[in-house]
Amino acid sequence: MKIKNICCIGAGYVGGPTMAVIAQKCPEINVTVVDINEKRIAAWNDNDVDNIPIYEPGLSKIVAEARGRNLFFSTDVDAAIDKADMIFISVNTPTKTYGIGKGMAADLKFIELCARQIARVSTSDKIVIEKSTLPVRTAETLKNILDNTGNGVNYQILSNPEFLAEGTAVDDLMNPDRVLIGGDIETEKGKEAVQALVDVYAHWVPNERILTTNVWSSELSKLTANAFLAQRVSSINAMSELCEKTGADVNEVAKAVGMDSRIGSKFLKSSVGFGGSCFQKDILNLVYIAKSFGLHEVADYWEQVILMNDHQKRRFAANIVKTLFNTVSGKKIAILGWAFKKDTNDTRESAAIYVADYLLNEQAEIVVYDPKVKSEQIYTDLDYLNSRAEKENRTHVTIVGNPYEAAKDSHAIALLTEWDEFNELDWKKIYDDMLKPAFLFDGRRLLERKTKEKIGFEFYAIGN
Ligand code: NAD
Ligand code: UDX
Repeated sequence: MKIKNICCIGAGYVGGPTMAVIAQKCPEINVTVVDINEKRIAAWNDNDVDNIPIYEPGLSKIVAEARGRNLFFSTDVDAAIDKADMIFISVNTPTKTYGIGKGMAADLKFIELCARQIARVSTSDKIVIEKSTLPVRTAETLKNILDNTGNGVNYQILSNPEFLAEGTAVDDLMNPDRVLIGGDIETEKGKEAVQALVDVYAHWVPNERILTTNVWSSELSKLTANAFLAQRVSSINAMSELCEKTGADVNEVAKAVGMDSRIGSKFLKSSVGFGGSCFQKDILNLVYIAKSFGLHEVADYWEQVILMNDHQKRRFAANIVKTLFNTVSGKKIAILGWAFKKDTNDTRESAAIYVADYLLNEQAEIVVYDPKVKSEQIYTDLDYLNSRAEKENRTHVTIVGNPYEAAKDSHAIALLTEWDEFNELDWKKIYDDMLKPAFLFDGRRLLERKTKEKIGFEFYAIGN
């Protein structure tokens, strides 16, 4: 089966970059990315390619090359579905905020809407691909909707979870450790559909890195991968607290442990806590699934990864208050970095939101600098927590365009995102412009202690 037209529903952090790379690597396939968010689609179509809605190193160049040739962004969802042989569903699957499973289960309403729309519109056979991260056995629901509400056309459902990390999305897509494709490999039609998707990736991914499994293994592998990754961060963060009490240094411990080839060195960087749209959401979802099968020990085991992460964010903020003589009321605290990691403008679940909220509850005055995050996003993040009136957030949080302005006349700096540029700052100038004693809290183990202490800072770093 030769694929000529691909449609991707959802032009977000996954849909946008993934389809841009498919379009670049497969010039003979037309790729249309659709979304109901008109503003987002308009930004993807902006003449100035630097204004695309997602910041990822290398992405604007790929979009510039493929857009208008075989890569299109549109709000006409029906037309793109109808034309496509292959449809990726890449919409958001956030944690439910209401009803059964509130605060834990994945909210699948956007997925179901997509399925119903595909069923309503399609007049030819389609391969429908789960690109979003979904609870195991969601493909069953999709099939049920498609087969029962459709126009009699045939659907093959595949699971093809995405493993890219933000900030390195383009590299991850160009050079994936593996591409995972789950399908109905027991039937001829199912095998054909799997092969069609394998052929798309085979344009640039070596065959031995394309892994095919049954659908349920594929769906569950995605949740498992995120749970394992997050667990490593919580494990090293648990050790960071013990290091602070004992004189051990968490970086040295991580290095010593990571040199064991059975453990490996990646993902052992202690921090103020993991953020991002995936880890917490996917582990909560896993916990919910385990509980719904009555597997309470399994659920408790994974839930601890989240509890440890919440503790890490809270204890970092509490340490600031304690160190500043037990009060930050009326004190200016500069936050450097708002994104959940460097090289992205995404702020979902960023530790910075929770640290700022904690300090605001202690009546601090907050000034934020982040090189890529827009002011309105920072206010939206704080408003979403509902901790105080929106007006209060605007009164007590100021957002500035450079780190020197943020630090000027502040009592303390909290470095919360590991942007490279923070290492290049003129820290002497920053110190001179601060109130004394000048406190510097490094939530990322980015800065060198010795040079900062020599300047005069009271320096605190996670796990040291
Ligand atoms: P996102 O919120 O950035 O993008 C989702 C887009 O889908 C939004 O623009 C939204 O408007 C659109 N959408 C929702 N319902 C729609 C509908 N019915 N029709 C058309 N458009 C619709 O989300 P994301 O970060 O791209 O994540 C998408 C999925 O991929 C999630 O399941 C997530 O867990 C998974 N995932 C994300 C990452 C990541 O790093 N962000 C990595 C791997 C997997
Ligand atoms: C994650 C997974 O890595 C990716 O495979 C999946 O597809 C989506 O979820 P992402 O959330 O974009 O990707 O970024 P990631 O690099 O995993 O970082 C997540 C959070 O953990 C960030 O806040 C990061 O700063 C933190 N982290 C990561 C650490 O604190 N220490 C580490 O060693 C690694």
